[in-house]
Amino acid sequence: MNSETAAYKRLVIVSNRLPFVLEKCGDGWTAIPGSGGLVTALAPVLRNRGGIWIGWPGISESADISELVEKASKDAGFSMTPVMLNKDEVLNYYVGFSNEVIWPLFHDFQSYCNFDPRYWEIYQKINSRFASVIAENASPEDFIWVHDYHHICVATELRKLNVSSRLGFFLHIPFPPLDLFVKLPWRYELLRAMLDYDLIGFQTLRDRRNFTQCLGAFVKNIRTKGTGRLLSVEFEGRTRLVGAFPVSIDYREFSQMARTREVADRGWFIHEDIPDRKIVLGVDRLDYTKGIIYRLKAFARLLEKHPEIHRMITLVQVVVPSRRNIPIYENLKVEIERLVGEINGRFTKSGWVPIHYIFRSLSRTELLAYYRSSEIAIVTPLKDGMNLVAKEYCASSIEQTGALILSEFAGSAHQLQTGAFIVNPYHIDEVADAIYTAFKMNQEELKVRMKKMQKSITRQDIYWWVDSFLNAAISGKLKDFPFLEELSHDTEPKSE
Ligand code: UDP
Ligand code: G6P
Repeated sequence: MNSETAAYKRLVIVSNRLPFVLEKCGDGWTAIPGSGGLVTALAPVLRNRGGIWIGWPGISESADISELVEKASKDAGFSMTPVMLNKDEVLNYYVGFSNEVIWPLFHDFQSYCNFDPRYWEIYQKINSRFASVIAENASPEDFIWVHDYHHICVATELRKLNVSSRLGFFLHIPFPPLDLFVKLPWRYELLRAMLDYDLIGFQTLRDRRNFTQCLGAFVKNIRTKGTGRLLSVEFEGRTRLVGAFPVSIDYREFSQMARTREVADRGWFIHEDIPDRKIVLGVDRLDYTKGIIYRLKAFARLLEKHPEIHRMITLVQVVVPSRRNIPIYENLKVEIERLVGEINGRFTKSGWVPIHYIFRSLSRTELLAYYRSSEIAIVTPLKDGMNLVAKEYCASSIEQTGALILSEFAGSAHQLQTGAFIVNPYHIDEVADAIYTAFKMNQEELKVRMKKMQKSITRQDIYWWVDSFLNAAISGKLKDFPFLEELSHDTEPKSE
């Protein structure tokens, strides 16, 4: 163990959501697994070592959920501490500031923003509440790692509470270019708040460059030094580090699960139901950033241009329900369903429906079965911090013959560009042509491409990501944290 990290006892993960969401079940509640890349990335990290996860359980009523949380902690193999929010707080902090200000602005959708001043007020109040819960539950020997755009001001609030521990922050979504960031009414306040962390991590070098350009434009007397993965930023006599750390998946876990009998059997049924044709798979949360409308249009264009492949290709589009209390999301669902209906109405022939549309969350087995049995995956976000679906698809391609069509605006494009069919998701003809090329490509060529992508993800998997971040933050690694037996249950530490 490194001498500097010897002092660190536990990893304290803070994110808006706990890894589960509570749903009403009769008079009580039931816990279902959360969706989204953040949960997929962080769950194996804490399962590996134990530690605490502080977050919101997804409900806006006051309820005694202690037994449920205790059981979820036992099942997960790490401890969870809920932060409760009421309806007004959910509306202003989560729906409002997080998802009607930061999310659209940081994903280049400025016209979807609603810069309501009350959103900002309640955002700060909830960041302050999270800070109080952290201060109550963490000890000075813990490393506190705050995640994502819901919690930019948590470090400022922790400092007000005299918490002097080293604080890390990782932004899972993109950081916008100066021209867009400048529109934010609280632009200075957010930048200033980020400077209260000791290490600020971004997904890509482009996000980091956008951030340092914004710092240069709005924060006086700031100095940025260095090159490479880590830069140092000096301000008011203190140095903090700023780096790019592309988040990833537990590659081994995905590839092992994809080989199981259960997944193979489920995959067999999928192909039985869609016989003699290649499957093009899209898996996305319901979100306007995911480019689902453009993708559907590109698929229709393919069918228009190539009538000879009708009946030989089917698009399976899985849309996972998300943020349905926000009108733009609900409208998007209506538009997707209208377009799927229109395309199917236009092209369906006896025995062949071109688009299979699934609107629900899939179990892990089902998801892996779709990954395994789809010849082509289509991941075409208009903007995405990373996109883990792209990496999961590659990890699950056991025969190594899967083709990945990937947007140049996904954070993962940088690592997967050597093997993926990189496209501009707005370019309907280009995406249609990429599907056609992938459809026609022979297995040897596909194998060469897939092997390159798998190699890249294996080299930089989720443990590489966490170790790179911890190394920059505290000169440590995940395995330097003692494994907490009392929380571990039957979960064995991995990756050692
Ligand atoms: N996912 C899920 N349930 C599903 C389908 C997908 O939990 O029914 C997961 C998927 O495995 C992936 C995550 O949701 O890990 C999506 O992450 P991604 O980075 O692609 O996008 P995000 O949703 O975070 O914007
Ligand atoms: C993205 C964000 C996460 C978020 C997830 C699901 O991955 O980066 O912070 O948890 O989407 O969105 P939701 O609003 O349901 O938490």
